[in-house]
Amino acid sequence: MSNQQRSRWDLGRFWQTVTYFEIIPLVNCWQKLFSPRAASHNSRPQTYNQQAKMKILVVGATGGVGKRVVKRLVEQNYDVMALVRDGIRGKEILGDRVKLWEGDLTIPETLKPEMISGVSAVICCSGTKVQPVEGDTPTREKYYQGIKFYLPEVADSPEQVEYRGMQNLVQLVSQHIQPITDKVLFNFSNPTTDIKETWGALDDVVMGGVSQSNIRLVNNRAIFGGIVSTDNNGGFASVRTRNFQPPLDLSDFEGIELRVKGDGKRYKFITRCEGKWDGIGYCYSFDTVYNFPTTIRIPFRCLIPVFRAKTVAEAEQLDASKVYSMQLMLSKFEYDGTLNPKFEAGSFGLEIEYIKAYNTKPKSQFVLISSAGVTRPGRPGLNLEEEPPAVRMNEQLGGILTWKLRGEEVVQASGLNYTIIRPCALTENPGDKPLYVEQGDNLKGQVGRDAIAELAIQAIQLPEAVNKTFEVKEESQPGETNWQKLFSGLTKNEDEDEGNI
Ligand SMILES: NC(=O)c1ccc[n+]([C@@H]2O[C@H](COP(=O)([O-])OP(=O)(O)OC[C@H]3O[C@@H](n4cnc5c(N)ncnc54)[C@H](OP(=O)(O)O)[C@@H]3O)[C@@H](O)[C@H]2O)c1
Repeated sequence: MSNQQRSRWDLGRFWQTVTYFEIIPLVNCWQKLFSPRAASHNSRPQTYNQQAKMKILVVGATGGVGKRVVKRLVEQNYDVMALVRDGIRGKEILGDRVKLWEGDLTIPETLKPEMISGVSAVICCSGTKVQPVEGDTPTREKYYQGIKFYLPEVADSPEQVEYRGMQNLVQLVSQHIQPITDKVLFNFSNPTTDIKETWGALDDVVMGGVSQSNIRLVNNRAIFGGIVSTDNNGGFASVRTRNFQPPLDLSDFEGIELRVKGDGKRYKFITRCEGKWDGIGYCYSFDTVYNFPTTIRIPFRCLIPVFRAKTVAEAEQLDASKVYSMQLMLSKFEYDGTLNPKFEAGSFGLEIEYIKAYNTKPKSQFVLISSAGVTRPGRPGLNLEEEPPAVRMNEQLGGILTWKLRGEEVVQASGLNYTIIRPCALTENPGDKPLYVEQGDNLKGQVGRDAIAELAIQAIQLPEAVNKTFEVKEESQPGETNWQKLFSGLTKNEDEDEGNI
């Protein structure tokens, strides 16, 4: 049959397609009036796995950095748990959207395994409480180099909070943390009967063609199959999901994995990060081997932005935090008019066992907010006059920095993937300045608690942050931080150790 051949177009199938996907608003309204099953998006049974993002435990969640970490995690749709010493105070500060656990790092019996259940990462912002020396009132203000301050003292033992407390926490976390696993989105080997609630045929009938396909469950597999025809200038058959409501947040993952058995043809996987029907589709072509099961990994960064079969060079990469739909297609065309070299008109079939979001690179499971200066007390040649108060007053403050360093060592030896952040002096400044990082513990300066909260969250998201310990301050001029670059420029702890052998 030639491309130009005309065949009888099927209005019924065209109508079925536009109503299934609610393409035309008018149809949508009409359908809502007369079809109780289609009354609302949310009344559809969900045949896909829609969960919140990873579960994160924040320790020291009532503190200056901790409460900011919690706020940002909640805004980013994470499932957040918080360890607090006082539940009532915790609720006042953190509100209702966070599951609170009452506990004290220095009292192991209060640290329950349940608080780690299902948790993929811990952000630890706790620190020994430092307060003005008892009886030190505003009328007895002290000045140091013109700056007003109160003589500080520690309210608790730094050895207990920073070291023994860290031992208690890390022991519990390493025993009970949940490894980050792949997220199965569609498991057709454990079938639900309502596959047709989510997936529907979308063939070239919408453009006047006569190809016909469908998706059905057979022997614990989904089969995308049918007949593709180039008549009436057509040449594609596909199945697409209705829009996910709400869109899937897959930003914790690297890409999509398909387990398929095909017929030797080349197919396309297409996904979208817009709710509109006809927006940019992000495409990836994959070859199948005749009657042989294959695992196809599609990194998000390898998806090609395409609008109506033409590539869109200026388009942004897929925003994996809002994935609205997925589609499998057999098309005569690749992109920009080139032909699919493995295309043949006629019958076809692709078996799909599952579709999941996958991860291959480990990410940090434990982020510790420590402090710049932890290795400085007792360092030969140090000019104390130039050092921040915590270094100068380490002894008066119960060896706070020394015990923080011991706490860091506990984390580094735990076997967990970790990131240790050592901020310079913390301020209430907005986090609108780029961050500057260094290793070797010589950095001086200051940094906003907001910026540290964001840095801690980036550290659980980016694999480049794993097993790195570093100091951080903010630059003087406002600007953006390139997080990937920031972490990539740092040396891993094990690499440093190897260098020392
Ligand atoms: N201040 C600075 O300039 C500076 C500089 C560099 C690094 N740091 C370090 O950065 C981290 C965050 O600073 P921040 O200003 O957010 O501290 P913060 O406001 O004092 O908060 C400390 C948090 O730790 C909790 N905590 C203390 N002892 C605990 C225990 N035994 N068990 C459980 N939780 C406990 C506190 O709970 P409660 O609310 O119950 O007291 C509070 O939530 C700290 O480790 C701090 O030492 C500070």
